[in-house]
Amino acid sequence: MDFDSSRKLLRQFREQALLGGGQERIDAQHKRGRLTARERLDLLLDKGSFYEVDAFATHRTHEFGLEDQKFLGDGVVTGWGTIDGRLVYVFSQDFTVFGGSLGEVHAEKICKIMDMALKNGAPLIGLNDSGGARIQEGVVSLGGYADIFLRNTLASGVIPQISAIMGPCAGGAVYSPALTDFIFMVRDSSYMFVTGPDVVKTVTHEEVSFEDLGGASVHSSLSGVAHMVGDNEADCLYLIRKLLAFLPQNNMEDPPSLATRDDPLRTEMALDGIIPEDPSRPYDMREILRLIVDDGVLLEVQEHFAANIVIGFARLGSHAVGLVANQPAVLAGVLDINASEKAARFVRFCDAFNIPIITFVDVPGFLPGTAQEHGGIIRAGAKLLFAYCEATVPKITLITRKAYGGAYDVMSSKHVRGDLNLAWPTAEIAVMGPEGAINIIFRRELNESADPAARRAELVQEYRDRFANPFVAASRGYLDDIIEPHETRPRLINALHMLSNKRDVNPSKKHGCIPL
Ligand code: HXC
Repeated sequence: MDFDSSRKLLRQFREQALLGGGQERIDAQHKRGRLTARERLDLLLDKGSFYEVDAFATHRTHEFGLEDQKFLGDGVVTGWGTIDGRLVYVFSQDFTVFGGSLGEVHAEKICKIMDMALKNGAPLIGLNDSGGARIQEGVVSLGGYADIFLRNTLASGVIPQISAIMGPCAGGAVYSPALTDFIFMVRDSSYMFVTGPDVVKTVTHEEVSFEDLGGASVHSSLSGVAHMVGDNEADCLYLIRKLLAFLPQNNMEDPPSLATRDDPLRTEMALDGIIPEDPSRPYDMREILRLIVDDGVLLEVQEHFAANIVIGFARLGSHAVGLVANQPAVLAGVLDINASEKAARFVRFCDAFNIPIITFVDVPGFLPGTAQEHGGIIRAGAKLLFAYCEATVPKITLITRKAYGGAYDVMSSKHVRGDLNLAWPTAEIAVMGPEGAINIIFRRELNESADPAARRAELVQEYRDRFANPFVAASRGYLDDIIEPHETRPRLINALHMLSNKRDVNPSKKHGCIPL
């Protein structure tokens, strides 16, 4: 074939590949209120930065008449591009080709891009929109999924892996996103479940809609499976770009910094009056975080799940940090099963990717009750403890108010290798709160007292004066310093500088046995 003819053919093929399953199916996709695989990549990546591979790949199946239905690209668009100028590898499933279902070649394409991402040390982003295993290809599809699961696992902790669910994601297909670091969903338009409404009805006789079973609101608030939710597809893809700005390309790099005009020495007098006089009154920990971090910008993760703990990314003096903060405004900031697991996973992610962790503590303890005990709060709490203990990134801790009981130890205390442990003068560090403590240690005296109420008040005050302050811990060196709230920002930024060359290693081992 001469050059002109072969070039003509190439252009023809390219045009054909751009159409995926054809204009009719593209129109149907739009009618569902969804974008196509390529339109999504256009929104996700820097303009003109996308380079595609395997656009001409087609399946090799002869079952169920599939040999007569071939679509260039086989239902997934793969390649690389940039986000804010930084390299990322991407795959985007094309629902217009066999419903984005995954067969042998579709899986091979994803695996190729995963291998490249791992070898070249750049994040992997998968945009999922698929009817699951391609039914006509049978076990080959299942094998393809497992090939992806293996790569997700091997890449874990080496490169950031991000999944966005843009449409259906059902059956075993959920396990690739589930193995990645962050799952994004689109409100009212995407869903994830292991077994769909029909199977649920057959097995448990429950009637449930797609949305109520596995929609974005369920997974962002009840199950905690989704980390962020976009109001629409464009918003979802924008959130991914925002998240990546905090992450390093791989585990050998430090996270990127971002210049700010926010003065690192800025003091914030509003912080001095933020803790209520009454120690049982709630306040919004987010307000404290926003007053301290650069430009008040906090990118919260799992915002609506286990809201009694806040996790997210921010910057301090330009440096990216991970924040973990008890939230006294929800359940008094208590640690329960969900909060423990949410924070544990986040601490491990930050540790894997060299992101310093700043922990804000106001925790009355672990949540009591049979539901928690029978649900395994012992195991869940141990996960958070394990995560903090093993983390070797810079760990800075600030106790704003309560740090009671085992939760004091867990929340990045000095004893679990906190590098700099600070407290505000309002901190209360004790085995338990004054009322509970007095009831136990003075039970007999109170029973025998002529005026138990007055005596109790006296004892509570005595306990408060003795223990409900940070000075005992500071005298032991469990706190490195007690600071005034308004100076928190400069002190934290200084601490980050001080710790910027921190080296710490754990004993050599194959891997620890985190109590999963
Ligand atoms: C092959 C599929 C397909 C699949 C959809 N299609 N799912 N082709 N294998 N799994 C095709 C349809 O034939 C149709 O082709 C096109 O995709 C669009 O599908 P529609 O049904 O018309 O779309 P819609 O009404 O929007 O419904 C979407 C859907 C539905 C809810 C996803 O298609 C569906 O229920 N699909 C089956 C889902 C499923 O049970 N998959 C297996 C899950 S188990 P045409 O040619 O008409 O455009 C699994 C195991 C993984 O995945 C295990 C991993 C370890």
